[in-house]
Amino acid sequence: METLTTLAALVERVRAWRAEGLTIGFVPTMGFLHAGHASLMALARPRCDRLVVSIFVNPLQFGPNEDLSRYPRDLAGDERLCASEGVDLVFAPTDFYPPGRATTVSVAGLTEGLCGAARPGHFDGVTTVVARLFGVVQPQLAVFGEKDFQQLAVIRRMTTDLGLPVEIIGGPLIRDPDGLAMSSRNTYLSPAERGRALSLSAGLRAVVAAAASGERDVAALRAAGLSALDVDRLDYFEIVDPDHLRPLTTLDRPARALVAGWIGRTRLIDNMAVPWI
Ligand code: PAJ
Repeated sequence: METLTTLAALVERVRAWRAEGLTIGFVPTMGFLHAGHASLMALARPRCDRLVVSIFVNPLQFGPNEDLSRYPRDLAGDERLCASEGVDLVFAPTDFYPPGRATTVSVAGLTEGLCGAARPGHFDGVTTVVARLFGVVQPQLAVFGEKDFQQLAVIRRMTTDLGLPVEIIGGPLIRDPDGLAMSSRNTYLSPAERGRALSLSAGLRAVVAAAASGERDVAALRAAGLSALDVDRLDYFEIVDPDHLRPLTTLDRPARALVAGWIGRTRLIDNMAVPWI
């Protein structure tokens, strides 16, 4: 495995691979990698000849009062995890945008609710960096986690709309044994905060349990979830159609429950499939 930090070196490596007819798989990340990221690498590995992981804390997707400056970093640890997953190349640029960058990639509709409403401009930052990463890495396939359920939907939409020749694969959300969704941001939590953070997955499980016992009224399902939450501030708790992400009033199809909330200074998100039986 090698680590490249410059765009020129990456472009040269990709050109050589493509000249040999090798297929490229890609897992974009912001680093401080955990088993959730590793699961995406494991999904990609058997589907490509060369596997690339990018590690770049993308300033464009952080709001002015967000955690860009304190976002956790550990390149050496990340390289060990990537090596153990059979990654061929880690692309870890220090800066990634060209001087004078004037293009923003923006997906309408899907980005308006949920995290898009709570974090204005966030998804423009995500789609702009992912489009540019696709441009330089030129993957045939890329894997994204359902942990960021709205992000996955937005990237699928962007890839289709721009006609990018990249197959988008979604990987399941990976949790710690106690149910907490794995996240690089969990490192911010004190032990007491971590305990309260479990209320996010508990709230989602309450929705799933109520749906499984036959509740169809989304207001009642939401109330069941909300009563389990122990957050300092709630950004949203919604039960939506899993394709267009619009809130439902009646559970009349398989749905997705999504939550975002703050525990102290840490913003956490989680989501679960809501069965329809
Ligand atoms: P990051 O938060 O580092 O996540 C990178 C990828 O790992 C995303 O596809 C995310 O959904 C996935 N992931 C994170 N935690 C996961 C978990 N517990 N289970 C499964 N998958 C998980 O998402 C980003 O970075 C950025 O927005 C990025 C796409 C790299 C653009 O900057």
